[in-house]
Amino acid sequence: MVESIGFVVNGVPVQVRGDHPHLLSALRDELNITSPKDGCSPTGQCGCCTVHVDGKAVVACQQPLAKVVGKSVLTLEGVDESERETYANAFAACGGLQCGFCIPGIVMRAKAQVDKKGADLDRSDMARHLGAHLCRCTGYVKVLDAIECVAKGTVCAPEVPGGIGSSGVRYEAKELTLGDRGYVDDLRVEGMLHAALHLTAHSRADVLHIDTAAAQAAPGVHVVYTAADIPGELRVGIIYKDWPILIPEGGRTSYAGDVLAIVVADTREQARAAANLVGVEYLVHPPITDPDVAVASTLAKDIAVWGTDSNVLSVSEYRRGDVDAAFASAAHLVRETFHTQRIEHAFLEPESTLAVPDTANGTLHVYSG
Ligand code: FES
Ligand code: FES
Repeated sequence: MVESIGFVVNGVPVQVRGDHPHLLSALRDELNITSPKDGCSPTGQCGCCTVHVDGKAVVACQQPLAKVVGKSVLTLEGVDESERETYANAFAACGGLQCGFCIPGIVMRAKAQVDKKGADLDRSDMARHLGAHLCRCTGYVKVLDAIECVAKGTVCAPEVPGGIGSSGVRYEAKELTLGDRGYVDDLRVEGMLHAALHLTAHSRADVLHIDTAAAQAAPGVHVVYTAADIPGELRVGIIYKDWPILIPEGGRTSYAGDVLAIVVADTREQARAAANLVGVEYLVHPPITDPDVAVASTLAKDIAVWGTDSNVLSVSEYRRGDVDAAFASAAHLVRETFHTQRIEHAFLEPESTLAVPDTANGTLHVYSG
C-alpha cells in the first residue's frame, strides 16, 4: 500500500501518491498540472520546472515529496489572472520567447523576485537569478527586458502583425509564456501507456543475449520489445539509413545511446524501473574515439557503426576559381588541419512521441516533438 502525501497546490489541498520521485512528477503525472515543464528531471539543471513552495522559487524536480508535506505550492495555473496577463503581455511585447519551453519556469523565478523587490528589482540581480535557467533559443536579454517591464509596471502591449513587412508578436506567445500551450510531453489521452528505453551499458560491444523476463514480470508492464519484434527495416537515417533503432542479439553497439529494449508500462516510473531489469550479456570492445583513426581504417573490425561498410559518411569537395594560381601568388601560405564539432541543436523540450491508435479506422495518429 503506497502512502499518500498531502500539501496545497494553487490554493487547493491535494493528496498524491508518496512514491513519486519528486514534486514535478506528482504535479505533472498525477495532478495533470503541466505548466512546469520537464526538461531534464531529475538533474535540476534547466530550471523549466520552477514553481513556488511557500513563496520561494524552487526546481520541482529536486524537491522530494517529503519536503513539501503541508506546504503551499504555486504554479502558473494558480497565479492571479491579471498577473498572468501582465507577464504574458510583457514577454510577448519584448519578444522574450521563441519555442517557449523554458519560459513558464523563468516567469515563476521572475515572479518570486518581482514579488519581493517590485520596481527596485535590479537587472543584474535578476540576471544572476536567471543563472538557474537554460534557454537555448531566445537568450536572456529580451527575457530580462520583459521582466523589467513587469517589475517597473510598464504597460507592454504586444503588437498585432500588420501584414508583410511589419513585425508583430510571436504566434501563440501568451499561451507559450504561461505554459498553456501543450508540448508533446504535456499531451494526455485515455489509457495512455509509457515507454522507457534500456540503453547499452557499453558504447562498443557485441550483444550476445538479451533477457527480458524480469522486466516483463515487473508491476504495470504490458510488453517489452527488442529488435526481434520489429518487422522489416531496422535502420533509419536522414542521409543514409545507417542508424539501427534497436540493437539485436548478434549485433554490435556503436555509441552509448544505442537502445536494446523498450519497456511499455502503465506509468513512466514503472516503465523506467522495469527497463533497469533487462539483462544483457556483452562482449566488450574498446570504443573508437578518434575520428581520424576511424576514417583512415578500412578494416572490418574498425567499422564504427554496426552493419555499415565504411566509417566515411560522405565526401564533399569544393573548388572555386584557380586555387593553384591563388596559392602561387599568395604572400604567405599556412598549412593546418582545422577541426570543428558537428553542432547539435540542443533543444530543451524532450524528444517525445505519442502514438494514438484508432482501432475503428485502423489508423495511428503520431504526435512527435
Ligand atoms: S526539469 Fe527540473 S530543472 Fe530541468
Ligand atoms: S524559448 Fe527558451 S528554450 Fe526556447
